[in-house]
Amino acid sequence: MNEKLLREIDWRMKVFDSLSFPTLVITPDKIIVAGNQVFFDKFNTTLEDIVGKTCHEVFYNAKQCPNKQCPLPTVVAECKGQSSLHSVTTKSRKKLWEDRVFSPILGDDGKVAYILESVRDVTRVKNLEIALKETEAFLEKIFTGSPIAIVVSDRYGNILLMNPAAQELFGYSSWEAATNASVADLYPEGVAAEIREHLKDETIGGKGKLHNMNTTILKSDGEEIPVEITASIIYEDGEEIAVVGIYTDLREKQAVEKKLKETRARLAQAEKMASIGKLAAGIAHEINNPLTGILFYAEMKQTELAADDPERGEVAAVIEDVNRCRDIVKNLLAYSRQSNPTKEIVQLSEVVDQSLALIRDPKALMNIEIVKEIYADKILVHVDRNQICRVIINLVMNAVSAMENAGTLTFRTYRDTVRQQAVMEIEDSGCGIPKEHLPRIFDPFFTTKKLGEGTGLGLSTVYGLIRENKGSIDVKQTSENGTTFRMELPLLHLIESAEQES
Ligand SMILES: Nc1ncnc2c1ncn2[C@@H]1O[C@H](COP(=O)(O)OP(=O)(O)OP(=O)(O)O)[C@@H](O)[C@H]1O
Ligand SMILES: [Mg+2]
Repeated sequence: MNEKLLREIDWRMKVFDSLSFPTLVITPDKIIVAGNQVFFDKFNTTLEDIVGKTCHEVFYNAKQCPNKQCPLPTVVAECKGQSSLHSVTTKSRKKLWEDRVFSPILGDDGKVAYILESVRDVTRVKNLEIALKETEAFLEKIFTGSPIAIVVSDRYGNILLMNPAAQELFGYSSWEAATNASVADLYPEGVAAEIREHLKDETIGGKGKLHNMNTTILKSDGEEIPVEITASIIYEDGEEIAVVGIYTDLREKQAVEKKLKETRARLAQAEKMASIGKLAAGIAHEINNPLTGILFYAEMKQTELAADDPERGEVAAVIEDVNRCRDIVKNLLAYSRQSNPTKEIVQLSEVVDQSLALIRDPKALMNIEIVKEIYADKILVHVDRNQICRVIINLVMNAVSAMENAGTLTFRTYRDTVRQQAVMEIEDSGCGIPKEHLPRIFDPFFTTKKLGEGTGLGLSTVYGLIRENKGSIDVKQTSENGTTFRMELPLLHLIESAEQES
């Protein structure tokens, strides 16, 4: 061999040995022909130990290659470098990740003559990759599993992420459906811009922050929902890259608050009624006695007067007025629960007809269409029939005057089985009750009628009588199209009623 060639071989061997990865030279049929020093050091072996053996004998101590995905056949067939990743456990039970890189060395005929097989330790990178994937999966789980609605958008308002809770809140059936929407679609007009302004305003929640703002969102079907929003702008190197919004549905909270407010108002009303009731009872008692005296003397005087006596008319007027006063006293006593109810089992729908038959001036109902939506089954209650008739008559007469004697009056009865109540609704198509009057309509002497047309004792009597029968009464709804009064009485169970009847 000439010196030039020897030098050539020498520097090529040095290059091979100085490769920083353990490397073998193998034939296409996997026979090892050479290895570099790094390989011998790493695998604690020598050239003599491995030359002539196959690579699977050296790596796996196996006669056949156990690696089903061994890329060597592809390298040979396509004359292209390939790699394959392996997890290896060392003798000290350390788990390593190795990337075996196969690079073809072509012969003069252009075919693969040898293959360089380098073993690269990629454990650190692989472990980082696994940790990253785990973190991503963990964050994904938090995001998708969160019961709090979260929406992430870019600075242009395109929605980047919307978790399932937000999809449900905003009414999108899937994430794909949500991607077509933009942030502006999530709010009624102007709200998105307002939120953006608040986010930019450093005096509100700090730079790019917005805390607990009550606002309204728009569901995909157009329904408006009250929410509390907390939002922040995400910056990267001072650049805005995304906006995150977190939403809390306020419907349930507001419903509870409304109910609480209503209960408080009802309690206050009940307290007020109780104290007015006491006063009314006192006055009624005091007035009742002198009235009885006046009536007695007036009637006596009437019998003494001749039929054509001109004073007869005056005495009759006194008697009429006294009787009016007695009616007022009677109503006041009913309101303050001083009457003595005579309870019996009554079928609720029957009292509707009885009450209508008892109306003193049937002409009042002449131009009124009466609709009865009566529950098919019997609804039994244990009440004073006459008192409930008085209640219905009062409600009907109020409805008639609200409708100015023409309109539709609907009677509706049904059972509220959950609350065990028999319900009767009386709905008119009258003028409605102004909101500011609602807290006062059950007060004695509250009336909007002209002097002499009403005493304002109708509803307070109704209130007292219903309470006396262990029920309740309220305005279910009122608007300029009419009013619905809803009264409830405890439902009588059939077993209970059978016992009572026997
Ligand atoms: N169905 C109704 N539609 C509209 N307003 C009503 C209705 N029922 C009651 N009101 C209002 O409530 C007020 C009080 O009613 P309430 O029956 O106590 O007294 P009144 O009808 O004015 O007088 P009275 O019943 O003593 O003749 C009425 O004056 C009216 O303003
Ligand atoms: Mg009335």
